[in-house]
Amino acid sequence: MDSVESINGQPASKKVFIKTFGCQMNVADTERMYALLAEKGHSPTENPNDADVILINGCSVRDKAVHKAVSFLGEQQFLKVNDLGLRPDKAPVIGLGGCVGQLDKGEVFKRAPYLDFVFGPDAIDQLPELVDRAERGDRHFVQVEFDPTLSYSTETKIQGGKSAAFVNIMKGCDKYCTYCIVPYTRGREKSRTIDEVLDDVAKLVAQGVREVTLLGQNVNSFGKGNPNAKAREPKELHNPIGKVGPRAGDENFNQLLHAMEADPRLARLKRIRFTSSHPLDFSDELVSAYGSKDHGGVSKLAKHLHLPVQSGSNRVLQKMGRHHKIEHYIEQMNRLKALCPEVGLSTDLIVGFPTETEEEFQETLKLLDVVEFDNIYAFAYSPRPGTRASKLPDDVPNAVKNDRLNRLLKHQLKIAERRYAQRVGQVMEVLVEGMAKNQNMIAPGQNGRVWTGRTTCNRVVNFIDTSARNYAHQFVPVKITASTSLSLSGTLVHDADFAESLSQGSLLQ
Ligand code: SAM
Ligand code: SF4
Ligand code: F3S
Repeated sequence: MDSVESINGQPASKKVFIKTFGCQMNVADTERMYALLAEKGHSPTENPNDADVILINGCSVRDKAVHKAVSFLGEQQFLKVNDLGLRPDKAPVIGLGGCVGQLDKGEVFKRAPYLDFVFGPDAIDQLPELVDRAERGDRHFVQVEFDPTLSYSTETKIQGGKSAAFVNIMKGCDKYCTYCIVPYTRGREKSRTIDEVLDDVAKLVAQGVREVTLLGQNVNSFGKGNPNAKAREPKELHNPIGKVGPRAGDENFNQLLHAMEADPRLARLKRIRFTSSHPLDFSDELVSAYGSKDHGGVSKLAKHLHLPVQSGSNRVLQKMGRHHKIEHYIEQMNRLKALCPEVGLSTDLIVGFPTETEEEFQETLKLLDVVEFDNIYAFAYSPRPGTRASKLPDDVPNAVKNDRLNRLLKHQLKIAERRYAQRVGQVMEVLVEGMAKNQNMIAPGQNGRVWTGRTTCNRVVNFIDTSARNYAHQFVPVKITASTSLSLSGTLVHDADFAESLSQGSLLQ
């Protein structure tokens, strides 16, 4: 008879659950972890109580984020320790990773002895061995060394059936903004080569991917000092802008975009997104990439830009070590809007940075009116250990930070409401992500399903369809009929192109 560990003589598949906190880097890392463990026979589960392996991919960007990861870890202890304080036979292996693992370096074992191992973002490719080690009974080990080499090479790993993928083009950050922990959790900047990214994206496109998001903390630094970069002629990349001749060892982001546009293997790739960029290095060439093709434009580049600004006050920006002036930011946004009026803009903002006055906060409010973002990600300042800003007194009281945060968000809601309403009546192309979690758009007694997706400007669009068709991962035209400050809704437009794309689609089971 087969043992519990085997079915028909084959080892039973182990189940893995990964809890992810933080930014897109962590989301992409989680995808990679699942894919690497799948190669080893582990299948994903949505229930940690079911899992043989539980991994926590934590974020340390703010104090609250660290607490969330640590308290999730605490909730898992009953799976390891029974009422008698003993480890049950079927206890899962538990690992703490991501930026939280990188900084903790194993201190957490004192508080959470039931945790098996700690690992950092540079140890992800070793994860199958780390899990093996823990499954063999090795406990309390730590893998947080940064890869010492200057070059960065990787292959994107995704699970099948996806139309959008994150692609890491670089890792680390050399900017050292005074408040930010990321350079300490992700190490120094390193880039992949353009050729490697092209080969990687070509494979993704062959698997059906139609939209990629190029990831880096500051993609404008892509290629700087890469020892493996090759000298490129601007014309080789169809880049009429390349004012400064490229040098060996210095590829750049603009070249990457143009190379992606020109590569015939990427013909079916429809949208290129990227995140994030730094205003200091947000070059004229990159602005031009949003323009028409004969002026340096990249037609596949999505009409959306996330450009974190952090504050509307020059004095605060200087204290944050951002090295850019607010006038420069506004100028670049104005150039971009003139070149591409339909562009959707979003940003990150911090309120309550040490010494920030009410007047300086008002400058941030004013910036929202001037730029008119579609969306903002705003945070109350949280001192991070070891950063330069953590040596300054955290002198804006929590109540004031929260009040500024609420006022900022309220102010933005009105702007977003106005901007979203301008879209009513337009037909927008939507890449459908799947069925909406919230099906409330369907009136009682009405048939159909609510689908959700995003436009090139990164706006969320919901639409109802009454057929049995599966729209997931398809591009569809939607006529916008209503708006809120957060999303748009509309109805499918049934034109000839659309009918053709549908004929290649599938029906819901
Ligand atoms: N690399 C991007 C950039 O340059 O802005 C993103 C960095 S971080 C992962 C995402 C956002 O978290 C930042 O843009 C900033 O607004 C916010 N953030 C970073 N450190 C913070 C802190 N100590 N307190 C509050 N918010 C913080
Ligand atoms: Fe942090 Fe600044 Fe680097 Fe962004 S650019 S990751 S905010 S140090
Ligand atoms: Fe957090 Fe690390 Fe991203 S600190 S925001 S998960 S790079």
